[in-house]
Amino acid sequence: MKHKVTKAVFPVAGMGTRFLPATKSVPKEIMTLVDRPLIQYAIDEARAAGITEFIFVTSRGKSALEDYFDHAPELEASLRAKGKTALLDTLQATNMDSGAIAYVRQHQALGLGHAVWCARHLIGDEPFAVLLPDDVIAAEKPCLQQMVEAYSETGGSMVAAMEVAPEKASAYGVLDVHPAIRSVLPVRGMVEKPAPGTAPSNLAVIGRYILSPDVMRHLDTIDPGAGGEIQLTDAIAAQISQTNNVYGYRFDGQRFDCGSKAGFLQATVAFGLARPDLRDELGDYLTDMVALRQAAE
Ligand code: UTP
Repeated sequence: MKHKVTKAVFPVAGMGTRFLPATKSVPKEIMTLVDRPLIQYAIDEARAAGITEFIFVTSRGKSALEDYFDHAPELEASLRAKGKTALLDTLQATNMDSGAIAYVRQHQALGLGHAVWCARHLIGDEPFAVLLPDDVIAAEKPCLQQMVEAYSETGGSMVAAMEVAPEKASAYGVLDVHPAIRSVLPVRGMVEKPAPGTAPSNLAVIGRYILSPDVMRHLDTIDPGAGGEIQLTDAIAAQISQTNNVYGYRFDGQRFDCGSKAGFLQATVAFGLARPDLRDELGDYLTDMVALRQAAE
């Protein structure tokens, strides 16, 4: 591999206001999709892509997240004593090596770009991945793994991209790309939350990135952008104009926006239906619900 990525940043310092009141005391990343917290899906995806160093950018009120990554020796001993080996395996699969996780604090929620910048001393001079745990991606080959493989050829920086309906584009960072049929699209420019009708394409950036470390230098100097926040998109746009070496990656898979209530519910249904132990019962229930709704119309 020409360009290797071993570090990943997980920005989890946001306030999660769309899930109030739950997020008063439960970090959004600990909320459960079927039986696993959102953060576990992101960690598993990062591990599958070869990540070995996990950097969490946290904030006040996120201690449940740190606790989640502690080992649970008493629980393991109890499951072992009762011969509950399947549960024991499930639990042990979440254990992280000592020293693999580092936490840095973002003292004020000044934006995603600022959260990533908070990890600069741990990143040093290496390319790194960024995963937003509220974007959950169902894919045969995990999304970040697809990107790491493509990135080993391109270097530079790479952002995950998906097509969205034109009327939805203003909710995302949107790419201006050189036309290409392949999954890897050279990027000409990037706009955060374009005003309706002004988006340069229908390719929206979602929460998976591989970034060259010079993005930190841009984050040092850029001013607040859309929404008064320090935007990661703006720093990547600065990379584009300086290096012309930024790529969009059209991944295979389905992305769920678990930062929104509707997206979270859709993901719950989709991941529930994908589980052999739940598929039949949940499927029957959904069929009944649809029939009831149709009967009522
Ligand atoms: P969101 O835009 O979803 O914001 O952040 P949020 O605070 O999590 O949720 P809402 O909009 O209030 O409901 C996208 C990602 O960036 C992180 C969040 O934790 C989330 O993973 N983030 C955002 C930070 O770490 N710091 C920030 O200042 C802003």
